[in-house]
Amino acid sequence: MQRVLTGITTTGTPHLGNYVGAIRPAIAASQAPDAESFLFLADLHALVKSADPARVASSTLEIAASWLALGLDPARVFFYRQSDIGEIPQLTWLLTCVTGKGLLNRAHAYKAAVDANVAAGADPDASITAGLYLYPVLMAADILLFNAHQVPVGRDQVQHIEIARDLAQRFNHLYGNEYFVLPEARIEDQVSVLPGLDGRKMSKSYDNTIALWLDRTELRKKVFAIVTNVQAPGEPKDPDDSHLFQIYQAFASTEETLALREHYAQGIGWGEAKALLADRIEGELAEPRRRYQALIADPAAIERTLVLGAERARERAAPFLARLKHAVGLRPLGAKAGNAGKTSAKAALPRWLSFRERDGRFVFKLNDAAGQTLLTSVGFDSPAAARAAQNALAALPPAELKRNALIAPAPDGGFTLSLMLSGDQTVAAAESFSCAANARARLAVIESALAELATA
Ligand code: TRP
Repeated sequence: MQRVLTGITTTGTPHLGNYVGAIRPAIAASQAPDAESFLFLADLHALVKSADPARVASSTLEIAASWLALGLDPARVFFYRQSDIGEIPQLTWLLTCVTGKGLLNRAHAYKAAVDANVAAGADPDASITAGLYLYPVLMAADILLFNAHQVPVGRDQVQHIEIARDLAQRFNHLYGNEYFVLPEARIEDQVSVLPGLDGRKMSKSYDNTIALWLDRTELRKKVFAIVTNVQAPGEPKDPDDSHLFQIYQAFASTEETLALREHYAQGIGWGEAKALLADRIEGELAEPRRRYQALIADPAAIERTLVLGAERARERAAPFLARLKHAVGLRPLGAKAGNAGKTSAKAALPRWLSFRERDGRFVFKLNDAAGQTLLTSVGFDSPAAARAAQNALAALPPAELKRNALIAPAPDGGFTLSLMLSGDQTVAAAESFSCAANARARLAVIESALAELATA
């Protein structure tokens, strides 16, 4: 299963360029059956770029509502807000401590800021925050915490993915295990870069954007402001030399695009071409716009969606961070030492234990590396039966493990976690949990313990 992850910095208002270049392709990709998608609002990164609290807050709402209105399904995508995942800043620190300072000195955004200061005759680090300097480390934590394989980004972000690979490799090497997958940038080159009003790439920094959720009239006004040449109606026009045409292409089917090509050859007037474009965009966005307006009017509902998304993401993140903390030596006191370096890495593995209960029946347990019991089996009549059940459990692929797990309310108001083998025969259970999320978190810990044992 490939994990695909990307973050959106929450500093702006979405425009048509974001829609065509990022939102639409990401939502389409998130529907692929063979991939897991992680999409998050990078609001911690937003603080590096903006010290305007109202802007950061409203941008977060607008971006979340936009993605949901455009069809992102929060039930199948991990959709969350970065600042809700406390594991991200924690991992940022672990990574910061393996990051060469020189590596960050060479990061493009930091270097550009230094160059600008030097050119202006100022101190090289004038008004550069440590947030800007550490931006790539925070981004590496976003990616590595979920062990993403692929990160769809624009060209300007490629160096950040390289830094993430670098830090992953360093950490793996220093702590003697393949903790992190090395992520790859997926550069969206074939994705249309939408021209803006003036023909340059549509971008906030050029002030040439068309906001995504303008109403019908405002949208039409903006489309009519797109710059064209001075050719009169009736003159044949070259579609390949017209950004109006390029924008149309981003919204139209192949047939519609071909038809417009014909019209250009026959000398369609710019006014008429603009009206066609406005209608085409309106056709695609009218329905999502209604959803957007309903969503934005109920921020509490979006909040619930994000909180739920964070819970789901943390079920993955929490056990993984626990493992990483253990790897670097941040452990419960009294936990087995070991894993101090490459040579003793094997000392810190989860363990199966088997023993005989007082009633004469045979039982096995799975303990984590620190010696805490993760699950206990039911009693078996013979050691062979216990061993067979243990082996069957150990051999379950992760997806099967989830399917064979049952989280159910217990009479005491808590929740139990039971693992079953064939049919509904319970073979093992964990003690009662105060809430279902904790039981799910335990299941995730069991899953990673089994995975660790399988690869040890
Ligand atoms: N830095 C990215 C940008 O400006 C946003 C981002 C933050 C991101 N964390 C990420 C993108 C992790 C991909 C993966 O576009």
